[in-house]
Amino acid sequence: MLKGKHILLGVTGSIAAYKAAMLCRLLRTAGAEVKVVMTSTAKQFITPLTMATLSKNPILVEFFNPENGEWNSHISLGEWADCYLIAPATANTIAKMAHGVADNLLLTTYLSARCRTVVAPAMDCDMFAHITTQQNIETLRQHGVLVIDSPEGELASGLSGKGRMAEPEDIVRYVEALLGDEKKRSSLNARHFVVTAGATIEAIDPVRFISNHSTGKMGYAIAEALARRGAAVTLVSGRTSLPTPEGVRRVDVLSAEQMYEATCEAFASADGAVMCAAVADYTPEEVADHKIKKSDDDMCIRLRRTKDIAAALGTVKGERVMVGFALESDEGTESAESKLRRKNFDFIVLNSLLDKGAGFGVDTNKVTLIDAAGREALPLMRKSEVAEAIADRIESILKQKR
Ligand code: C5P
Repeated sequence: MLKGKHILLGVTGSIAAYKAAMLCRLLRTAGAEVKVVMTSTAKQFITPLTMATLSKNPILVEFFNPENGEWNSHISLGEWADCYLIAPATANTIAKMAHGVADNLLLTTYLSARCRTVVAPAMDCDMFAHITTQQNIETLRQHGVLVIDSPEGELASGLSGKGRMAEPEDIVRYVEALLGDEKKRSSLNARHFVVTAGATIEAIDPVRFISNHSTGKMGYAIAEALARRGAAVTLVSGRTSLPTPEGVRRVDVLSAEQMYEATCEAFASADGAVMCAAVADYTPEEVADHKIKKSDDDMCIRLRRTKDIAAALGTVKGERVMVGFALESDEGTESAESKLRRKNFDFIVLNSLLDKGAGFGVDTNKVTLIDAAGREALPLMRKSEVAEAIADRIESILKQKR
């Protein structure tokens, strides 16, 4: 909850500005006081009347009110705010922020604000991917600005890709985690978790490999949720294109063998592990040291079993918490229950590929949490929400074990 928190919402001229209305409303519902500063272009996308009505405060655009000369002090706005949330943030505003340009009230306020600034980029996918924008975003991060990752999806241009603004619900959750309940933010202080995520890659030769469709989104969301609660997190990551979550130590690996080594090493000092990676079950028995030439014949690659990381850790687990995942292409409950026992997990998260909105690459998931006591089927949720539910469960198991 954001009860009593002051959020300064900066709105810039993007088509996603319409989502700022919902964002403002959700921030108020969460208990925050909201003031809105807009760029003059933003007014062409959403009216000041809408934003003033929803925020219950007059909108600030100019340095002074031309009617009566009243000064809109960027200094006092910055002092008032507990968080300066710029959403949507265009490529133009991000570029100006990165380089100290201060040609409107929104930007002068950024330069003078002492509170944390959070930016939710919104633009077309090619603008987002442009090296200049990416460098500007990196500069902002280096300057301590928190940048909410842009999800993949359909864009106003009709193209599809990264660049759309994060959903208002996710932005509010982000701000809540940043400013919200002090107790929750430190609830996993002094704990260390290992999270495995993404797909492993098993080389056939220097060019080809065997892998799978996992993007790592679920594991990354879990690492982020645990780190937000104060835990030290080692994220052992297979191949993915995701950015490293704030405050997480990431160890990149390729093969199942490398993931095994890195996970065992981190597990030695850990209070628990979340095994979210899609680890290859088989790897080529021999890796050719040159590119295998094709011939007209069929070919056969002999595969051998990889080590089961979760099962290995399960045998030395002791008082640690261990969470597993089971991705099944059928209903899968029985198979998940058998993995729960076999790998000595405290609970297992079952996703079924039969469920719409669950599985690879999407931002949502529909899971059932299964432990020795029973099953809890959760509704279709964002992966960040599933991660919170998993973190809640881990916390309550740790309390019981203490
Ligand atoms: O047996 P299955 O691969 O379905 O088990 C899935 C669970 O075991 C996941 O938590 C996965 O991360 C973990 N696992 C592992 N090492 C393997 C195979 C699976 O840690 N080699």
